[in-house]
Amino acid sequence: MADKEKFEFAPLTIGTMRLGQWGAKMNTNELEKFIEGCIELGFTDIDHADIYGHYTTEDEFGKLLKAKPSLKGKINLITKCGIRMIADNRPAHKIKSYDLGANHIRSSVENSLKALSVESIDLLLLHRPDLLMSPYEIAEVFQELKQAGKVKHFGVSNFTTSQFHLLNSFTPLVTNQVEASITHLTPFNDGTFDQCILNNIRPMIWSPLGGGAIFGDDKDDRINRIKQIANQLAQKHDAKLDQLLMAWLLKHPSKMVPVLGTTKIERVKHIKEALGIKLSREEWYELLEASTGHEVA
Ligand SMILES: NC(=O)c1ccc[n+]([C@@H]2O[C@H](COP(=O)([O-])OP(=O)(O)OC[C@H]3O[C@@H](n4cnc5c(N)ncnc54)[C@H](OP(=O)(O)O)[C@@H]3O)[C@@H](O)[C@H]2O)c1
Repeated sequence: MADKEKFEFAPLTIGTMRLGQWGAKMNTNELEKFIEGCIELGFTDIDHADIYGHYTTEDEFGKLLKAKPSLKGKINLITKCGIRMIADNRPAHKIKSYDLGANHIRSSVENSLKALSVESIDLLLLHRPDLLMSPYEIAEVFQELKQAGKVKHFGVSNFTTSQFHLLNSFTPLVTNQVEASITHLTPFNDGTFDQCILNNIRPMIWSPLGGGAIFGDDKDDRINRIKQIANQLAQKHDAKLDQLLMAWLLKHPSKMVPVLGTTKIERVKHIKEALGIKLSREEWYELLEASTGHEVA
C-alpha cells in the first residue's frame, strides 16, 4: 500500500467514473470483487470525484466500505471537488459552473467523507480550474482541512501550467491529473509534463486509453493509423493493443500514473503486465507519427 506520509502513488490508479451509474452500475458485491481484485494486484489508489454518477458513485463505494470496513486500511482514497453539476440531488445548482471558493471546498469534503464513510481523504484534487479562484483562499482552506485531519494531501486536475504554478506557490500540490493518451497529446507539448518533472511530482493521467474509442470499429483515419502501427508494435512485443498503448505513455520520463477506466478486473491484470514492456525511441516516435499524421520537423 502507498506510503501515507508522502503521497506515493502505486504504478496505476483505479478510476471509479465508470463503475457506478455512469457505466457498469456495479452492485456492492460486484464492486467488492473488483476492488479486492485490484488490491490483490497491488493497485490500492482509488480515484473518485464527487460528481461521478451524478453524485452517487461515492455513496455506492461508501456502502462497500460500511459493509467491509477492513478495506479502508488497504486503500488510498482520492477524490475531487469543484464542479457544480446540474443534478436532481443538487437542486441549488442552476447552471453548470466551477467553484473553488472555501465554502464549496469545505462542504464538498464533508459530503465526500460522509458518502465514502471515512474520516479522512488521502488526496483531494481540485477537479477543474475555477477562473474566479483565489490561491490565498484555497491555501487557507487546505490548511484548515489538513489540520482537522479531514484531508491528507492536495492536488489539482486539468490546471494549466500557470494555474498550477500559482497555486503551488501558496500550498504544495502532489499532482496535476490531466488527460493524455496517444489520441490526446496536448500535455506533451504545453509544458504540463515538464512542470511535473521540475516540481518532482508525478502527473496522473485520465483517459489513458482515450476513453476506449480506439477499441471500437472506427472510420476515423487517425484512429486507424494509430491502430495499424500500434498493432504492429504490439505483435513485435508479444503484447496486446491496450498494453502497447499504456507502455507508450509509461516511456515518458515524467513517471505518469495512469488512472485506469476499465470495469473489468481481467483488463486491470492485463495492463499490469504492460508495465514491463519497453519501447525503443524509434518505436515511440513511430506511434507519435501515426497519431499526428506527419513526421517530426
Ligand atoms: N480529472 C478528470 O477530469 C477526469 C476526467 C475523466 C476521467 N477521469 C478519471 O480517469 C479514469 C479513467 O478514465 P477513462 O475511463 O476515460 O479511461 P480509459 O482507460 O481511457 O477508458 C476506459 C474505457 O475503455 C474501455 N477499454 C479499456 N480497455 C479496453 C480494451 N482492451 N478493449 C476494449 N475496451 C477497453 C473500457 O471498457 P471496459 O470497462 O469494458 O474495460 C472503458 O469503457 C476515470 O475512471 C476517472 O477516475 C478523470
